[in-house]
Parts: sequence; C-alpha cells; structure tokens
Amino acid sequence: MDKLKIEGGARLNGEVTISGAKNAALPILCAGLLTPEPFVISNVPELQDVSTTLKLLRGMGASAEREGHTVAIDASGVNNTEAPYELVKTMRASVLVLGPLVARFGEARVSLPGGCAIGSRPVDQHIKGLQLMGAEISIEHGYIHARARRLKGARIVTDMVTVTGTENLMMAAVLADGETLIENAAREPEVTDLAHVLIGMGARIEGVGTDRLHIQGVERLHGTRHRVMADRIEAGTFLCAVLAAGGDVTLRSVEPSTMDATLEKLREAGARLDCGEDWIRVRFDRSGPAGALQRPRSVNIRTAPYPGFATDMQAQFMAVNAIAQGTGMVTETIFENRFMHVQELQRLGADIAIEGNTSVIRGVPGLSGADVMATDLRASACLVIAALVAEGTTVIDRIYHLDRGYEKMESKLAALGANIRRVS
Ligand code: UD1
Repeated sequence: MDKLKIEGGARLNGEVTISGAKNAALPILCAGLLTPEPFVISNVPELQDVSTTLKLLRGMGASAEREGHTVAIDASGVNNTEAPYELVKTMRASVLVLGPLVARFGEARVSLPGGCAIGSRPVDQHIKGLQLMGAEISIEHGYIHARARRLKGARIVTDMVTVTGTENLMMAAVLADGETLIENAAREPEVTDLAHVLIGMGARIEGVGTDRLHIQGVERLHGTRHRVMADRIEAGTFLCAVLAAGGDVTLRSVEPSTMDATLEKLREAGARLDCGEDWIRVRFDRSGPAGALQRPRSVNIRTAPYPGFATDMQAQFMAVNAIAQGTGMVTETIFENRFMHVQELQRLGADIAIEGNTSVIRGVPGLSGADVMATDLRASACLVIAALVAEGTTVIDRIYHLDRGYEKMESKLAALGANIRRVS
C-alpha cells in the first residue's frame, strides 16, 4: 500500500494548476445515462472515484472512453440497471445513478452504501423524493430497487440540505412527466454545474443556484459537451498549505467566485490574497521581523451548506489552526463523525480537545513529524498540510483516500518545492 513521505519545513513557491472538481464530475458523468446520444465531458480529473464511476457505467453496458481529461460516454446500449455492492461500497456517490436510471429506463437496483468513516450518511431523502415522483421502492437484500413506468412531477421538500440528494432528484425530474419543485435544494456550485449540463441536454430548469429548483420534465434529452468546473476544495487545500508552510503561490484554472467562505477565512488567518477571474495568488511569510517565526492567526469555523463554510474544507483549516497564534474553534454541523484527523494531528504534537461537535485547537509554535494514518479524503489532506510544516519526517499511511479525490497531489506539491514523495 502506498504511503506519502514528507520532510517538513520547505516554503511553497510557484504556480499550480487546479483540476476539475471531483464532486461536479461524478454527478455529471452519471447524467450521461440520461441520453442515448454522445456525451462528452472535459476537465475530468484523473481520480480513483472517476475510474469507479466509469467502471459503474461500463458495467451497465454504456461505453465510457477516456482520453486525458476528456471522457466520452455513449449510453445507447445500456442493458443492465444495477449498481453492485462491490462498487458502491468503495464510493458512496455511486448512488447518483439511481435518479437517471429510473428516469430513463423505469428501473434501477442500487446497492445501499452502508457505513462510512465520517458518519451514518443515509440516502432516505433520495428515496423519499423518488417515491413522491411515483417510483415504487423496495429495499431487498441490501439493494434499493426502484421502479416507475414514467416518473411524475412532484413537490419535494427535503428534510435537510443534501448535495447528492438534490442532484439525484434533479436528474430524475428532468425526464418526468410534468413539473417538479425541489425545495430546500442544495446550492453548491457543483449542483449548479450539473444543472448547466442538463440544460445543455435540453432540460428545462429554473431557479438554478437557488434553493428552489423548478423543473419541467421533457420527453427526451440529447447529447452535449461540457467542461467541468474547477475544484474549489482542491484549490482551498493548496491555499491552506501555503498559509501553513509559508510561500508565494499562484493557483491557475480556479473559480474564486465559488470560494467566498474559504477565502474570507484565509484572509482572517493572515493570508495575502489577490484574485482574478480564474486565478488566485496567495502569500504568507513565515519569517517575521528580526527573524521571528510568523504564524497564521487562529480562526473559528462553523461548517454549513453553501454558501456557508464547506465541511470538505474543515480538516485543512484544522491543520492551519494547529500551528496558529491563539485558540480556534471548529464546529462541524453536517457530519457527525468528522474529527477523525484530530487524533492523528495530536500524534504530530497538536493541542486539540473535542467537545461534542466542536474541536478547540490551541495553536502550538511547531509540530514534529511522526507516522500517521489517513482515515478519509479530507483528513488525508489535513495531514499532508500538517506534515509540510512539521519538523522532521512524517509518513502518511493509507493514502488511497487521498487518491480518491486529489489529482497528483504529491507531484503538484513537489513542483512547488515541498519535500514529498510516494513510497510503496
Ligand atoms: C456531498 C459531497 C461531499 C460533501 C457533502 C456535504 C459529493 C460526491 N460529495 O456528499 O464531499 O462533504 O456533500 O457538502 O458531492 N443526509 C441524510 N439523508 C439523505 C441525504 C443526506 O440524512 O438522504 C444527511 C447526511 O447524513 C449529512 C447531510 O445530510 O449529515 C448532508 O449530506 P449530503 O449533502 O447528502 O452529502 P453527500 O451528498 O453525500
């Protein structure tokens, strides 16, 4: 199993190109199931989760060809509407085939995802919405079995803001008979990116970017071409890395307009930021007056649905707070068990206490390298950031989590001057 070996202490300098967003690419690729016509998506990141999605689509009889960052899907030959446990258990987002399959083929069998490191993460809202649209749903042998001759438009109010839930229901509603209203819809930019793809296929959606989506179902959708939006979480992760390690880095191919909450916290923590339409320059000098060590300022964070502070950026800011001046509090409101990185940060010397869904982080002047273990995707990113500042060597085990969501993280960081390499 691969590990990352990092020698802390190097400043980060230069330019880095941000990849396409994982959380936009996954639903968009699943939307390819909605049409028998050619469907071509560019700026698709090379990630384990993308490979899993393509495997899922091929298993259904679709063709999915990949050339570099472009994926061409042809779902004219779909002959199987099942998402098997072997794939769903490795990637919860597989549930995103449910809406498109029922909408176009009238049937889907999708494995229930089961447990997850960051909390229970049920899919009851996806099921409730489809039932309101007239689908007959049964849970048998660990599978969600959904059937409908043709889905009907409905008014759906989700109990909480759910990103993939909104995406699934939107993909179901575009081919339903009549009008669907999704209230309390997720407003994440990735949901908006998917809506633009669907509109490009001929879907009729109003209220894009708001929490009320009006969808007028159509008989069929046609093929389209689309470029996936920039990954705001990957971008935010690099910005945190520069704030922690110090340096001067310009991010290219980013969309700062989708990152307000993150950028505001970075500024509050002391980062110097300059933004253009598709670039961000971040500067932080670790050496203060008379050679004294300069540290970021601690920040308080409370995760919330977009446009609030993203839960997917929480762990990375925890690493920054760990070495910051002062005490910061991080409150997680979206997932119940998303502090798995705390114990690993403590192994590096961080001073963190957990009280319920809040972590209280007393910043320390420095961390010291140690062997640690990645527990989930964003926890891995947090450990990489901490390792970049820790004195000595840190070895991060189980980085397959990182490979699920970050494209070539170690070579991008190495190009900025980090001492980082992958070891087997
Ligand atoms: C998506 C993102 C993930 C991000 C999360 C929150 C993808 C592929 N993943 O995950 O990176 O961390 O949004 O921004 O886009 N819930 C239910 N019942 C449901 C659905 C959700 O109780 O049917 C709960 C969840 O357990 C969680 C909250 O709602 O507590 C939000 O989850 P949700 O937005 O659905 O997360 P995902 O879409 O799985």
